[in-house]
Amino acid sequence: MHRSVCLMIPLWRWQGTRTGHAALVLAMLYATVSLVCSARPEDALIRVGDAPLDDSGQPVQAHGGGIVQVDDTFYWCGESYKQPMLGDFISAGINLYSSTDLQSWHFEGLIFNSSQITDIPAHAPYRVERPKILYNAAQGRYVLLFHADTASFDYNVVGVAVSASNITGPYTFVRTFHPDGLNSLDMGVFQESDGRAFLVRSINNSFVGISQLSDSYTDTTGLVSVAPRGEGPAIFKPSDGNYYMMASHLTFWRPNPAMLFHAAADSLATAKWSQLARPAMGPGANTTYNSQSSSVFTLRLASGAALHIYMGDRWNFYGPGSVANSSYVWLPLLPREDGLGYTLLELDEWRPRDYEAQASLPVALNSNATLSSGLSAVERAWVGSLLQPSPSSSSSSSSIGASSSAPSPPASPNIETIIAN
Ligand SMILES: *[C@@H]1O[C@H](CO)[C@@H](O)[C@H](O)[C@H]1NC(C)=O
Ligand SMILES: *[C@@H]1O[C@H](CO)[C@@H](O)[C@H](O)[C@H]1NC(C)=O
Ligand SMILES: *[C@@H]1O[C@H](CO)[C@@H](O)[C@H](O)[C@H]1NC(C)=O
Ligand SMILES: *[C@@H]1O[C@H](CO)[C@@H](O)[C@H](O)[C@H]1NC(C)=O
Ligand SMILES: *[C@@H]1O[C@H](CO)[C@@H](O)[C@H](O)[C@H]1NC(C)=O
Ligand SMILES: *[C@@H]1O[C@H](CO)[C@@H](O)[C@H](O)[C@H]1NC(C)=O
Repeated sequence: MHRSVCLMIPLWRWQGTRTGHAALVLAMLYATVSLVCSARPEDALIRVGDAPLDDSGQPVQAHGGGIVQVDDTFYWCGESYKQPMLGDFISAGINLYSSTDLQSWHFEGLIFNSSQITDIPAHAPYRVERPKILYNAAQGRYVLLFHADTASFDYNVVGVAVSASNITGPYTFVRTFHPDGLNSLDMGVFQESDGRAFLVRSINNSFVGISQLSDSYTDTTGLVSVAPRGEGPAIFKPSDGNYYMMASHLTFWRPNPAMLFHAAADSLATAKWSQLARPAMGPGANTTYNSQSSSVFTLRLASGAALHIYMGDRWNFYGPGSVANSSYVWLPLLPREDGLGYTLLELDEWRPRDYEAQASLPVALNSNATLSSGLSAVERAWVGSLLQPSPSSSSSSSSIGASSSAPSPPASPNIETIIAN
């Protein structure tokens, strides 16, 4: 096993000392060690609440983002630096980083600049938030989707850009659009192994709506599933074929107790969501360890186990530097032994390999543990009336699971008081 002869040296520390002769020696050693030993993602030391430095010594700026794996390389896209502006924090665009070990990150560049948006009938600056990349295998191209908006959130669209063959770009702006004619705020994506892809987004901050993306991934084909009100929707699918979704309540930049939803369905197009017990437990659970969900990345370990990694943002609203000094909270999502779904561990730092065994456990969902629906008949009818028949199924998808939400959308996006529970 080559790892036994591999020096697990934190090489990034060394790079800062490069001067003169020492630089040459270190560079040669670096090259030698890198050849002998390529660090594995299993061994990545993930520091919770850290903003790792990239290979040029700058903090990684990839907020509200997600990871896409291309062969052995992980690409992390997210919002660029959250610049204080207009009484809020607005990123110039979308950054992309690459890594082969989930620990050392190379800055690939700003792959999308919000100035590329040409079709919002209001003046810049535009918001470009919660970006996600999908690989469209049928067309051999990468599709970048993101929430686009005016600074004051009054346009509520999804933006699309495509790269002809390389995940690093260049990305050409396609358009912004209201998916299925509906307002769209926080968003995520989910891609099935057969290539079908779905958009999941907050509609008017009233509920979460899921639509299948068209074959080109540049359009949606109708709302097919709804879930209770939430932000930062992040769907993952364990090998048992069920769907789970992490989401937050709506409390602006302030953290709150994350929600976990479950749907036993053959397809997201027929998913009926119910709410499970809160995934975060322990002292920091009230604020989900000071984070908000962005996406869940499923890391396939060498053993074959699939480890679901919660990727959250620590927006740092009250901390030094506020949101401009945001960092990241990555934690393992593990099957709960009490059959209540998944638990989000509270850790200061961790390595994926330490959770390999637990990640492989089946989720024995105790159906009695699910919470009952909290939607009134009026709300249910209102949400149900927005649903269109699923293109791939004749079954109704008008039911909805639990809700911890208030009945009507707030006047301004992202703001809701915490619903105690
Ligand atoms: C984005 O584009 C604008 C207009 O071309 C340019 O002024 C700005 O420097 C770009 N931002 C970044 C971060 O490259
Ligand atoms: C993708 O672009 C990067 C530079 O950003 C380049 O190093 C790489 O070779 C390209 N990959 C392909 C398959 O063209
Ligand atoms: C969203 O809000 C807008 C503006 O208030 C309203 O016109 C629209 O009907 C709402 N859509 C849904 C699906 O609630
Ligand atoms: C949970 O968070 C809310 C809002 O920050 C706070 O008011 C409340 O006291 C917290 N509860 C506990 C048990 O920490
Ligand atoms: C960012 O946050 C860290 C951790 O709280 C703090 O040490 C640092 O001083 C902050 N940076 C700025 C520019 O406020
Ligand atoms: C669920 O509740 C029913 C009725 O109370 C009970 O008979 C059943 O044993 C429970 N199932 C589990 C898995 O706890």
